[in-house]
Amino acid sequence: MRKIGVLTSGGDAPGMNAALRAVVRKAIYHGLAVVGFRRGYHGLVYGEYQEMQLGSVADIIHRGGTMLLTARSPEFMERSGREQALQVIEKSGVDGLIVIGGDGSLRGAEALERLGVRTVIVPGTIDNDIACSDYSIGFDTAVYNVTDAVNKVRDTATSHERVYVIEVMGRTSGHIALAAGLAGGAESILVPEVPFDLAEVCDRLQRGVKRGKLHSIILVAEGAGAALNVGEEIKKRTKMETRVTILGHLQRGGTPTAFDRILASRLGAAAVDLLRSGSHGKMVGFRSSDIHVTSFAEVLAEKKEFPQELYRLATILAI
Ligand code: F6P
Repeated sequence: MRKIGVLTSGGDAPGMNAALRAVVRKAIYHGLAVVGFRRGYHGLVYGEYQEMQLGSVADIIHRGGTMLLTARSPEFMERSGREQALQVIEKSGVDGLIVIGGDGSLRGAEALERLGVRTVIVPGTIDNDIACSDYSIGFDTAVYNVTDAVNKVRDTATSHERVYVIEVMGRTSGHIALAAGLAGGAESILVPEVPFDLAEVCDRLQRGVKRGKLHSIILVAEGAGAALNVGEEIKKRTKMETRVTILGHLQRGGTPTAFDRILASRLGAAAVDLLRSGSHGKMVGFRSSDIHVTSFAEVLAEKKEFPQELYRLATILAI
């Protein structure tokens, strides 16, 4: 192996830059050349790439987003797009590719691997919905961002004695809602993985008021339903003053936490080592505080486990 390629794909996640830095510097340390493809798989299809030097990744470890840019490439989903990508890969001279991204990126990486491109994936998504890894890059920062927002909303919620329904991201998963709900002391956490009954949510709110609670926070994962509808329903059923806040993309931005930077540095470096050792078609994940390598097939076959125990704990503590 003489030259490797790297790209970031799908929704950006804080820490992707730290992962790029690790890939580039670890590869150069071992005498490999590195090429960075821009805008994810789009860069593979259209031949948008740049040679990466040590200095290309200077001063980015603390920055959110991704310096290589990212995209969701419809062209790459087509067979013709992937064939075009193969030609670009050949022309660029890379012998192996590291893809940093989430679920869609994993599927793209698997397609490339089947076409004969040696590919390794590093899980990078705030959703934390990738199986076979306890964490994906960006999740910790998103949870931090949401918890910070919940703290702020709590100030105004208490002052006005209101119910606040806060919608958070996560696509079809409730990992962000659960972690931030537990950290932020939410009264109820609505996630797609656990069936819920709005009547019970309202009862809980009313029991709280009877005990003297001045405010309540309800976290809704976007995959569990629209916060606007939840808020309307709560207002109708309880007659309590209710407001809805949709956090949106602010939860995906900002400086990555130290945890995400360290995770990204370790996973990026491990991805280079994996390719160097001749192994590919695998994801470099993180389990029980250590690097955990799993084949694409296994990751795709497994559904990310939802921490039901943690959910029960959050419910008990918000009694
Ligand atoms: O996958 C990351 C994510 O932020 C999801 O939580 C969310 O559903 C989606 O991306 C939003 O996508 P976009 O940035 O394209 O609107």
